[in-house]
Amino acid sequence: MEKKNILTGIRPTGRLHLGHYFGATRNWVALQDKYNTYVEIADVQALTDNFDNPEKVRKSVKELAIDLLAVGIDPEKTTLFIQSMIPEIAELTVYYSNLVTIARLERNPTVKTEIKQKKELFGNNGEGITYGFLGYPVSQAADITAFNGQLVPVGEDQLPLLEQCREIVRKFNNIYGETLSEPEAYLSENKRIKGLDGNDKMGKSLGNAIYLCDDEETIRKKVMSAVTDPNKIKKDDPANPDICMVNYYHKLIGNDNIETLCSECKKGERGCVQCKKELIENMMNFLKPIHEKIKYYENNPEEVDNILKNGTKKAKEKAEETMKKVKEAININYFE
Ligand code: TRP
Repeated sequence: MEKKNILTGIRPTGRLHLGHYFGATRNWVALQDKYNTYVEIADVQALTDNFDNPEKVRKSVKELAIDLLAVGIDPEKTTLFIQSMIPEIAELTVYYSNLVTIARLERNPTVKTEIKQKKELFGNNGEGITYGFLGYPVSQAADITAFNGQLVPVGEDQLPLLEQCREIVRKFNNIYGETLSEPEAYLSENKRIKGLDGNDKMGKSLGNAIYLCDDEETIRKKVMSAVTDPNKIKKDDPANPDICMVNYYHKLIGNDNIETLCSECKKGERGCVQCKKELIENMMNFLKPIHEKIKYYENNPEEVDNILKNGTKKAKEKAEETMKKVKEAININYFE
């Protein structure tokens, strides 16, 4: 049986943090053994929010590639590529844009939430909402279908975008004949990783992210300020580990003594400082191999460039095939 295609994407707007790792990239690494995997560095999509700061996107493309390779994305198994270097994606977006109404895009729950956030930032006049932003779900449908993405590993917040893609595919096939396949979501089990500050989500904009490239000093500061049971004042007060972010991270990273740790905590036999120090140590051990690989790729930038060039070349060939089929279907394949 032929391997199914997996397609996923990530915006280059900063470095990878533990939320990305446990919520997404760890799964991509596991999936690449079983599927024909494409990972897109979605710089065009990143520009929809950062068109006035292209330097940030540019810098982030290489850093993100390094972080992805460091967590185990294997260029022998995964086609890692840069979105803007595949003009076919932009071309498909143009044809798909006829198949989506503006009202439908405005109703897309993910877009709706983002518009609300933008209005809070830019005021209520909607001046912050560009045509490019409103249309990014269409472009994302092009990302997926250009590579015949059958399974799309995403978080829950991305489900409306996938549904939008499926609608575009159905409409396309209805009008122009069966050409594209409908992708399915591949939901990861760890949907959302909490922040050390107790926030439901770890995120760059929330200021609570622990980056994979953080050094020990930075990790120490972040862990030492983590939210613990507020009722525990003194070192030997009994506490509830279930509401402690240090405990949450012990579990996330993995701790062989977690049961002892919890029972000591409940009995008031363990202080938070000790617990935090152990977490720092565990986290550093966990990050060690990743740090080593980050360092390796930072010292070998031409290797990273070659991986991206080769991945992009391979991805482009696939996108060209799709483009050909699409033009045939619409009957705009002149002189062929
Ligand atoms: N929108 C996704 C995000 O912000 C990134 C993305 C771009 C993507 N293209 C994609 C995800 C295609 C899945 C499939 O996280």
